[in-house]
Amino acid sequence: MCGIMGYVGSRSAPKVLLDGLRRLEYRGYDSAGIALLLGQTIDIQKSEGRLDNVEKLVQSDPRRLENATCGIGHTRWATHGKPTTQNAHPHQTGHIVLVHNGIIENYIEIKKGVMARGHIPRSETDSELFGFLVLEAMEEGLSLERAVRESFSKIRGQCSMVVMSEREPGVVVGVRNGSPLVIATDPLGGALFASDSQPLLQFTRDVIFLEHGDVAIATAHDLKIIDLKTGALVSRETTHLEWSVEQIDKAGFAHYMLKEIYEQPGALVDTLNGLLDRTGSEPFTLAEQPGVEVLRNAKELVLLACGTSWHAALLGKYWLESWAKIPVSVDLASEFRYRNPVIRPGTVVVGISQSGETADTLAVLRELRARKIPCLGISNVRRSSISRDADAVFYTSAGPEIGVAATKTFVSQLLTLLLFAGFLSRERKTLSVSELSRLFEDVVRLPHVISDGLEQNSEMIKAIDATVNSLTLSSKVFAGVKGFFFMGRGHSFPIALEGALKLKEIAYDHAEGYAAGELKHGPIAMLDPEMVVVVLAPKDSWREKTGSNLEEVKARGAKVVGVGDAEDHQLSQLCDYWIPLPLESRKIDPDLLPFALSPVVQLLSYRRAVLKGTDVDKPRNLAKSVTVE
Ligand code: F6R
Repeated sequence: MCGIMGYVGSRSAPKVLLDGLRRLEYRGYDSAGIALLLGQTIDIQKSEGRLDNVEKLVQSDPRRLENATCGIGHTRWATHGKPTTQNAHPHQTGHIVLVHNGIIENYIEIKKGVMARGHIPRSETDSELFGFLVLEAMEEGLSLERAVRESFSKIRGQCSMVVMSEREPGVVVGVRNGSPLVIATDPLGGALFASDSQPLLQFTRDVIFLEHGDVAIATAHDLKIIDLKTGALVSRETTHLEWSVEQIDKAGFAHYMLKEIYEQPGALVDTLNGLLDRTGSEPFTLAEQPGVEVLRNAKELVLLACGTSWHAALLGKYWLESWAKIPVSVDLASEFRYRNPVIRPGTVVVGISQSGETADTLAVLRELRARKIPCLGISNVRRSSISRDADAVFYTSAGPEIGVAATKTFVSQLLTLLLFAGFLSRERKTLSVSELSRLFEDVVRLPHVISDGLEQNSEMIKAIDATVNSLTLSSKVFAGVKGFFFMGRGHSFPIALEGALKLKEIAYDHAEGYAAGELKHGPIAMLDPEMVVVVLAPKDSWREKTGSNLEEVKARGAKVVGVGDAEDHQLSQLCDYWIPLPLESRKIDPDLLPFALSPVVQLLSYRRAVLKGTDVDKPRNLAKSVTVE
């Protein structure tokens, strides 16, 4: 949830740390700070709010920029204690300074203990308490490394920590005990720590993903890894990163989110290439990898995820059940875990998480796997924690997604589930070869469908702009907009949920997604001229019924934004605003229309957020990877 950076070497530490933290800000951005070794003492600059505040503080004294070559930094997403400067990391206790990501579950007990021994915590955080433990251990004569290991044996919970001490200037100790931590040797000498690989790319593409229970000890001349419990040296393989620095820049787009929406066609092509064996003559042949056999043998699937990934799972159920006739249940990872679900023999669980780090999803996979239930993962981040908690992971190839709101990873997850559905339909012979070939041709066309819609000045883009401009800027048309409903049937229903989530996340509008048939069972009472209803009604087998629901909405005076086939004049005439889907979408099977709808709901939210002036890429209270339950 939080972002960690650490550095020791010959470069300017504040520059390395601030550059790195900027690339990690998506993990949390309610406060930030850095600690720099200046001579024998550690100087800490921290602030609530964004990293810019810290940068100003650091720049206020040129000594920091010129002399510091060792330090640690942090961007925070508050869990224990408010997002204040006091609670911001790094935390200092005596000569110990640390940054922390994750949760210390037994912090109350630890707090009682340290206070009983005469220490007075200055923050409300669980993190600071760890510093007292290290301090006490060093007072007993242990080295920093030993003291950190000793202190870890006293805490419970998944976390990572990077620690320095004025007593051992120039030594940085990092521990991964759950939350991710990546290290690298700086080609100019020295070492780097970060809570994901992106900030390291500007220095090197060769990194080491620490394993659970690894301790890395770095100086300007040495970097070694030892076991947290035994202290024995361990060796970990180096991973050469495929992502480039260019991929993690904005490339001329106003926001990462917009860039990532436009990267969707490429994300689909790369995901297809990554998951399919294109040399096979049969459609939907998955490239050989450990998970394929598990999937092939599944008699039933349980799809578990959170947020947007859960919406992908909901949609996956439609394809898997109707094409492959395999029973599928979908659940929120956070709920499934605590409700003693019945899992029949032959069930395969699939955890879906773009980041591969979501605590709720990982925890449930871990528990199910311990019960010998086969668990697969779908993730966009290679070597993320899900690779440890699932038997095998299918990777999407959307490239780095920096905007907090998921876009290109969402459609890549959809595509992966679609490929699962095609693959299982062939294996289970539930679709004929000719049906599969036809569907496969349409799947390969999906990147064109999306790029057709996204073309500059396409009818779709013009209509989205006009709709949002009017809804947001013109008080003549609308007395006000007090809320949004998104509604759709069948495959469009999960996209309605996703559209509402996107609008909440980045534009802070009250928005709800509904199955179109559900509106009259309650929510319709909310409708009046200040409500906007976005009706997703592409030309599929639900189109007529959704059209009737649209009439019901209109009759209650709500303003209607319709999204549908470019030549559905009957529908477009009923709507106050009309967004036509790209013409390419007429060439694909109606089951695949969610791929045409997704960019529409993403862009609606994006445009509204821009007009409202919110921070699109870093919406308030959110973080890109949610590593706490
Ligand atoms: C929404 C969004 C979140 C995530 C959710 C799960 O735009 O990004 O709702 O989908 O936090 O994250 P992952 O997929 O990383 O498990």
